[in-house]
Amino acid sequence: MFNSISSPKKSKKHNKNLPFNLSLALGLLENYDSPLYVYDKNILVKTIQKITQSIRYPHTEFKFASVTNGNINLLKIFKDYYWGLHANTPGDIYLGLKAGFNPKNIVYSGSNLNAQEMRQVLILGVNTLNLDSISQIELYCKVNQQLDQTNSNRQLGVRLNIPELTGESRIGINPQEFPLVIQLAQKYGLQVTGLHFYRGTGTNATEAFTKVINQLLDVGKQLPDWQYLDFGGGFGYPYQDNNVAFNWENFGEQLTAALNKSEPKIKLIIEPGRAAIAQCGTLLTRVVSVKWQGDKQIVGVDTTISNLSVLSVHGGYREIVTWHENSEQLYLTDVCGNTTYSRDYLGKNCQLPAVNVGDILGILDVGAYGFAMSSHFLHRLLPAEVLLDNNQPRLIRKREQYHTLLTNQIVDEV
Ligand SMILES: Cc1ncc(COP(=O)(O)O)c(C=O)c1O
Repeated sequence: MFNSISSPKKSKKHNKNLPFNLSLALGLLENYDSPLYVYDKNILVKTIQKITQSIRYPHTEFKFASVTNGNINLLKIFKDYYWGLHANTPGDIYLGLKAGFNPKNIVYSGSNLNAQEMRQVLILGVNTLNLDSISQIELYCKVNQQLDQTNSNRQLGVRLNIPELTGESRIGINPQEFPLVIQLAQKYGLQVTGLHFYRGTGTNATEAFTKVINQLLDVGKQLPDWQYLDFGGGFGYPYQDNNVAFNWENFGEQLTAALNKSEPKIKLIIEPGRAAIAQCGTLLTRVVSVKWQGDKQIVGVDTTISNLSVLSVHGGYREIVTWHENSEQLYLTDVCGNTTYSRDYLGKNCQLPAVNVGDILGILDVGAYGFAMSSHFLHRLLPAEVLLDNNQPRLIRKREQYHTLLTNQIVDEV
């Protein structure tokens, strides 16, 4: 089965929980081809419910951050469970509206919109915007004035930058500049009603959020017309068994207690992305090559790192599983993608059984920043997406075909 000069390093380890059984995995690849994103609705719904129930504060609104996954069939599930949407871009808003969200339930918190985009966001009907610089606020004020001076429902929030609370970040405005912001808004007959906090993505340490609650409430009170606190975004997900998991119960309890005590009673917005959707997604791929470099198994698969999030931004490798029968005996394994990119590793130093060409591997927890960050690097086509509802598959995005690579290219008529 393998050639190796020394005997391969073996170990015995648990078999990771498989997302579904082998016959379903085989059937999925037979019908929809490989590689394939598979989302499990039951897992998604359970996660939505867990997060929703963890925060008991009565004036809470949840908004799913679709930067992580923009498939409208998944967005609709959030809507069915009474979540709104968080948008980072006008494109997020566009998809949200296609999924059926009321624009009033969409919160925009992004950065660096140009004038046309700012107009677009407002024309599309989004009326809560959290902005991250005085220039963006000025642009908002001007565009808002041109569009509709009588729309008093618009909520303008400031994105916060205090390095000790938010971490070092390019995003946000320091409270020292709040008086200027308030003055500017007043000049246009507007109020600054929101404070927006974002800790950066993938923060597993619950304390990074809980320890700043009271300070955020103090900062918010510096806004004379304060009505809401938007707490992000950024809640981590423990991709590896030994990683710390973000503790939603603890976060919810501490936040609820602090907000219940605080006056005035403000609205709370929570806009999780990764924490809500990472777990429900698996990327199925087939083994196309197996070789041994000394003790190490080098497995080549028919997908690529371009189908996943950028490791340097979004943290380490995801767990990889196989349905191989002999999963007791494990070997140090690198799982490599199908591009010439020398760092095309989907997994490094994994523990996997000796696999064969044709076997199926599952890359776990890829629901967030997976398909959403897939690229056409090396002109690989983007995979299809399937949604499992009680193990019944439904295609929710077709696999690309080669003509996609010509989209928008000007092709000379011959
Ligand atoms: C303002 C804001 N909120 C929420 C999110 C979602 O973040 P996460 O997936 O880390 O929860 C992002 C991601 O970029 C963001 O910029």
